[in-house]
Amino acid sequence: MYKLFFQLVFKRMDPEQAHYLAFRWIRLAARTPVLRTFVAAALAPRHKELRTEALGLRMHGPFGLAAGFDKNAIAIDGMAMLGFDHVEIGTVTGEPQPGNPKKRLFRLVADRALINRMGFNNEGSAAVAERLAARNPVFRTTVGVNIGKTKAVPEADAAADYVKSTERLAAHADYLVVNVSSPNTPGLRNLQATESLRPLLTAVREAADRTVTARRVPLLVKIAPDLADEDVDAVADLAVELGLDGIIATNTTIAREGLGLKSPASLVAETGGLSGAPLKERSLEVLSRLYARVGDRITLVGVGGIENAEDAWQRILAGATLVQGYSAFIYEGPFYARAIHKGLAARLAASPHATLADAVGAETRKAVK
Ligand SMILES: Cc1cc2nc3c(=O)[nH]c(=O)nc-3n(C[C@H](O)[C@H](O)[C@H](O)COP(=O)(O)O)c2cc1C
Repeated sequence: MYKLFFQLVFKRMDPEQAHYLAFRWIRLAARTPVLRTFVAAALAPRHKELRTEALGLRMHGPFGLAAGFDKNAIAIDGMAMLGFDHVEIGTVTGEPQPGNPKKRLFRLVADRALINRMGFNNEGSAAVAERLAARNPVFRTTVGVNIGKTKAVPEADAAADYVKSTERLAAHADYLVVNVSSPNTPGLRNLQATESLRPLLTAVREAADRTVTARRVPLLVKIAPDLADEDVDAVADLAVELGLDGIIATNTTIAREGLGLKSPASLVAETGGLSGAPLKERSLEVLSRLYARVGDRITLVGVGGIENAEDAWQRILAGATLVQGYSAFIYEGPFYARAIHKGLAARLAASPHATLADAVGAETRKAVK
């Protein structure tokens, strides 16, 4: 049904327009009491065996919505209604900003991929904090808050911008993510170098602890798939050293070569981050590498090219406690999260692992023995 609808309607629309239209429908459904109960019952079934404890939080299941879809925290209930067990909002920057000029989102349908150069279009940390504070949740869901640097702020002052967002947003975050890996803010990815990352993460940790004293807000960092292997190891070591709670691997890639892309060359050449199926292999590789390095000391979140339950299962076996998706939601439609949780429950039942937690990292542990 959705695939036909996608072919007939969404595919003919500008991708960003289609996004906002789908968004409006999701929000509308989530505001309509009988409808939302019905949709949630159909799309967000609870599998007891998928109950997950991660980052000190109890979740219904491991699969959630990656950052970038709900940048301003306006559709958390809608996404929970569709079966995403956690919703990562943002990226939110210290100050509001419009992002890059349109057109800035492209569909590579033949590759089941997207290229985006949105450039952190968002309402800014003050407005988003106000919205989160006023939120009256309909569905219980975990809310991650992903923060990034305001474009106009120089790289040297990045920490102060992240700290500002942290002070405003940490109280509303079940977990907080420092995004240093989007390719569409000039210089942002330089912050992944340990000499920049160490003071940045330390400052954000201190700001979170200063602002929220009743609990410890889990802090994660989100990294790019384009880091060299040694740099992945360096971030992993730094995360352990700083007592970080988690690493999210990965963001979109600026690579195009060697991915077997079938879409027209003019589309492939668009500037921006590539996501979806072609990212699968490298994201999985980075995740396995991280798990081999940090084991169970740090919670790993696998994201990048997860299209179905098998992909999600492979990430769990590679070391992910939580998994996320974005691009495949555009292609698969409203049943995406449900299909993943259902398929994960079936895979767990057919596996030798007694619990989902036992399955985490099982393949990587075997490989490094
Ligand atoms: C249109 C678009 C916007 C995105 N915006 C953000 C963002 O603001 N912050 C972020 O950390 N990741 C952002 N991402 C990256 C996703 O969260 C995810 O890491 C990446 O797309 C890989 O997952 P996927 O292959 O399932 O899409 C964005 C991705 C897309 C497609």
